[in-house]
Amino acid sequence: MKPRVYITRLLPGEPLKGLTDLLDVKFWPKEDEAVPRRVLLDAVRGVDGLLSMLTDPIDEQLLEAAPDLKIVANMAAGYDNIDISACTSRGVMVTNTPEVSSEAVADLALGLLLATARRIPEAQNELLRGRWKTWSPTFMEGRAVHNRTIGILGLGRIGSALARRAAGLSMKILYWDKYRNEEAEKSLGARFTGFEHLLKEADFVVVLLPLTEDTRGLIGENELSLMKPTSVLINVGRGPIVDSRALYQALAHGTIWGAGLDVYDVEPVDPHDPLVNLKNVVALPHIGSATAEARQAMARRAVSNLIAGVTGDVPRDLINREVLDKRGTRDIRPHTGGWRTIPHIPSESAQHNRHRVH
Ligand code: GLV
Repeated sequence: MKPRVYITRLLPGEPLKGLTDLLDVKFWPKEDEAVPRRVLLDAVRGVDGLLSMLTDPIDEQLLEAAPDLKIVANMAAGYDNIDISACTSRGVMVTNTPEVSSEAVADLALGLLLATARRIPEAQNELLRGRWKTWSPTFMEGRAVHNRTIGILGLGRIGSALARRAAGLSMKILYWDKYRNEEAEKSLGARFTGFEHLLKEADFVVVLLPLTEDTRGLIGENELSLMKPTSVLINVGRGPIVDSRALYQALAHGTIWGAGLDVYDVEPVDPHDPLVNLKNVVALPHIGSATAEARQAMARRAVSNLIAGVTGDVPRDLINREVLDKRGTRDIRPHTGGWRTIPHIPSESAQHNRHRVH
C-alpha cells in the first residue's frame, strides 16, 4: 500500500509530477481558496502525510483527526500556523520551506519600503483621479531612503538579503536579533544593537521576525513612541508582532510618519479596516514570496519534505528534531516496508531555521 497524503491547495508548477507512482495523493483542487476546515478534518483521516499552507491551522483537533500522520510539510518559511509541541508529542514531524523565498521576500520588503517612503501608490492615485494639476515643489513629498538608517528586526536569511540591498543604497544598517550575524557585520557593516536603541535611531524599522510567544505584541504603544516622528515601520514578518491598534494611533497622531504592511492580525485584512485606509499606510495582501520562481521552489521543497517524511527518511527541513527520539518508541506501521531506523543527526538547516521566519 502506498503512503497516503493530502495536499491542502492546488500547487504551482508541476511538483506532483510522477508522485502518484510513489504516493496515494489527494488534494484540495483550488488555488485561491483555502480548504474548509470540516473538509480538511475529514480528508486527513488515515493520511500519513499532510502538505499544508500557512492558512491551515494545524492544532490538536486536526492531529486527533489524523492518528496516522507522520509529517506536516508546510509550504511556507514561517510555521506559526502549526502547534509544534502538539505535533512533537504525537511524533509528527514538521517541516517548512526556508531559503528558497528569501530573496523574493527581501525584494518585496525593499519595494514596500520605497513605496511607503516615496508614497508611490498614493501618487499613482493622484494621477488617476486627475489631481495632478502641475509639477509643484512640494507635491507628493516623501522621505529620503538613500544614506538613511535601516533597523532590521531579525537578521536571518531575509534580513541579510535586505541588508545587502540596503548597503546598495548606502544605508547605515542596524539590527537586533537573538543571534549575532557576524557575516553581515563583516561584509555589510551591519551593527548589532539594543532593541530600544534601534527603534530610536532607525529611519526605517523593518520587522522580519518569526511570530513566537516572545515576539507577539513586541511592538506596541511604548515601542512606537520611541521611534522618530519622521520614521517608517515596515512589517513583512507576521501581523501580530505589531499591536495594530497602537500602530493605528501612532500613524493617525504622527508619532511615526508612515507604515508599509504585508501582514496582518487577521488575514485577509478587512479592506474597511481604518489602519489600511490611512493615507500614510501602504498595505499589501501578504505577497512577500509571491514570485513564480519562489512559489514553485517552495512547492517543490514542501513536496520533497513530504515524500521524505512518509517514506522513512529524515526530511531536509525538519523543525522539531526532538520528534526523532519519539520515533524510536512509536509503533511502526509498515507501509513501504516500514520506517527505517533514523539516525539522530542534528539537521543543520533545522538548527538555522529554528527562529527564522523565512
Ligand atoms: C510567508 O509568509 C512564509 O512564511 O513563507
